[in-house]
Amino acid sequence: MTFEAQLLPAFDGGRLVRVPLAALDQARLPGWDLLHPEERAWLKDRPARRLRELVAARAALRTALLQVGWAGDRPLLALPRGGPELPDGFTGSISHKAGQALAVAAPRDGRTLGVDTEVLGDRDRSSIAQRVLRPEELARWRVGGEDWAQLLRVFSIKEAVYKALHPWVRRYVGFDEAEVTGDVVRLHLEGGEGPFTLRSSTTWEGDRVITVVEVRATSPGAAAPTP
Ligand SMILES: CC(C)(COP(=O)(O)OP(=O)(O)OC[C@H]1O[C@@H](n2cnc3c(N)ncnc32)[C@H](O)[C@@H]1OP(=O)(O)O)[C@@H](O)C(=O)NCCC(=O)NCCS
Repeated sequence: MTFEAQLLPAFDGGRLVRVPLAALDQARLPGWDLLHPEERAWLKDRPARRLRELVAARAALRTALLQVGWAGDRPLLALPRGGPELPDGFTGSISHKAGQALAVAAPRDGRTLGVDTEVLGDRDRSSIAQRVLRPEELARWRVGGEDWAQLLRVFSIKEAVYKALHPWVRRYVGFDEAEVTGDVVRLHLEGGEGPFTLRSSTTWEGDRVITVVEVRATSPGAAAPTP
């Protein structure tokens, strides 16, 4: 089984791969045959639902990395804090939600990528606003009519920021440490890390939003990202 890799023109050389979980009830998992033997051994005892997400996401990440020049010669396991363990020289990220697993990958080239996907769902969950938004974002969102889709978009950007930022800061980053205005993300990092330059892109496909974020050190001499 193979999966298509979409070029991300805004993220120099980046690729996005989606793997549908539509085959949830089939005996053979989508992407299982693509995995490294050590990945299969690592995954085989997981509960069925989680296993499908993990397999689909690993297959998406492996496909994306192969498309950007990785030799595919090692397993993609997990780091202690939950992110994927990536091969040297590459950046990548995973998200899965509502029947779809996504991964992005690119040559590292001094930057990291984060991806997130969310769906509007069948109910408005605007009660998360106070937890996700900074006071100034909350004020703007209220003036804008408390739109659930707008809030979900900001939530998705912040989750993608977290994933892209993690290799640089290696700590939990709270929702109040990023401020989103349109596509512009401004960081308010409590640890004083950085400065970083961020780019973000969000795309709606029906009720699904897909977000990709890139983080670079603003100063050329800044420390290289670590796993
Ligand atoms: C970790 C977190 C971002 C995952 O997002 P989510 O919407 O729950 O789930 P997603 O499906 O989109 O992403 C799950 C994937 O994130 C990745 N991930 C988990 N922790 C990660 C980390 N520290 N760094 C990078 N990627 C991470 C994993 O690959 C995971 O998939 P896997 O377990 O199948 O390998 C989220 O659970 C969380 O803790 N958020 C709070 C922190 C935050 O977002 N702060 C905002 C800062 S501006």
